[in-house]
Amino acid sequence: MPSSLCVGYESNLAQVAAHEISSITQLPLVRLKTSFKFFTEYAYVLMVHETHIELAQTGKGAAKPVVIEFASGANDHRRKFGGGKGQDIAKAVGVSKRKGLSVLDATAGLARDAFVLASLGCRVDMCERVPFVREMLKDGLKRASLSLEVSDITSNMVLLEGQLFDHSSAYDVVYLDPMFPHMEKSAAAKKEMAFFRDLVGQDDDADLLLDHAYQLCRFRTVVKRPKGAPYLNGVEPTYKLEGKAGRFDIYVKSSLDSAPN
Ligand SMILES: C[S@@+](CC[C@H](N)C(=O)[O-])C[C@H]1O[C@@H](n2cnc3c(N)ncnc32)[C@H](O)[C@@H]1O
Repeated sequence: MPSSLCVGYESNLAQVAAHEISSITQLPLVRLKTSFKFFTEYAYVLMVHETHIELAQTGKGAAKPVVIEFASGANDHRRKFGGGKGQDIAKAVGVSKRKGLSVLDATAGLARDAFVLASLGCRVDMCERVPFVREMLKDGLKRASLSLEVSDITSNMVLLEGQLFDHSSAYDVVYLDPMFPHMEKSAAAKKEMAFFRDLVGQDDDADLLLDHAYQLCRFRTVVKRPKGAPYLNGVEPTYKLEGKAGRFDIYVKSSLDSAPN
């Protein structure tokens, strides 16, 4: 667990929740008496507010904090204007080929992809192994459950315990998007995502995911990769979809076209 991260809170009302999150994540708990912009003891702080959790960089010039927000901001924009079933992730997973696909997103992260898939009608179970990211996901899902606009979608997103290797149930599709050392010069990973990457690490064991994922899928395993990245575990996919920023490698086990709906 990164030593540069702590759990922080300011108000008495957030204290109990902050204690609980500190004990789940095994991260030190700090009561902040000043804005995190002037707090220098830790490089990052998982701030627990009464209303939400945010991951904040500390110190001067800190990037904008990261909050998992499904009902507004980038997730909402992508839901409304991201291209629906025409976008590459939808084609890679095969959402048009079968209603209500069951998907295991085994590397959920901030669940942006999981949310896209759920908004296109998939039932998405998610695994995330980093405890502080899991807490952010729980917080995002809890707030979304109160939103008239997105609660129908997020009710089809379930955060599972444990990681991919702890699971043996079958899914129509298993989706993988492990971290990859950043390659583009123009920080395509925006500033705030760069610090998420700092804390979560590079997923050096990512190659191990493919075999297990393929065993669990009924129809296909889909792997999201940055442009130019090698195939996961060096295994050539059945086919791939190349986009501007990256590509999807599709490992087909059985055709979705022949599947009864
Ligand atoms: C690039 S991020 C995924 C981003 C995600 N697709 C999104 O849309 O927000 C990769 C995430 O996978 C998680 N991860 C990597 N290997 C994992 C494993 N074996 N089990 C569960 N989570 C894993 C990492 O902790 C990290 O949060």
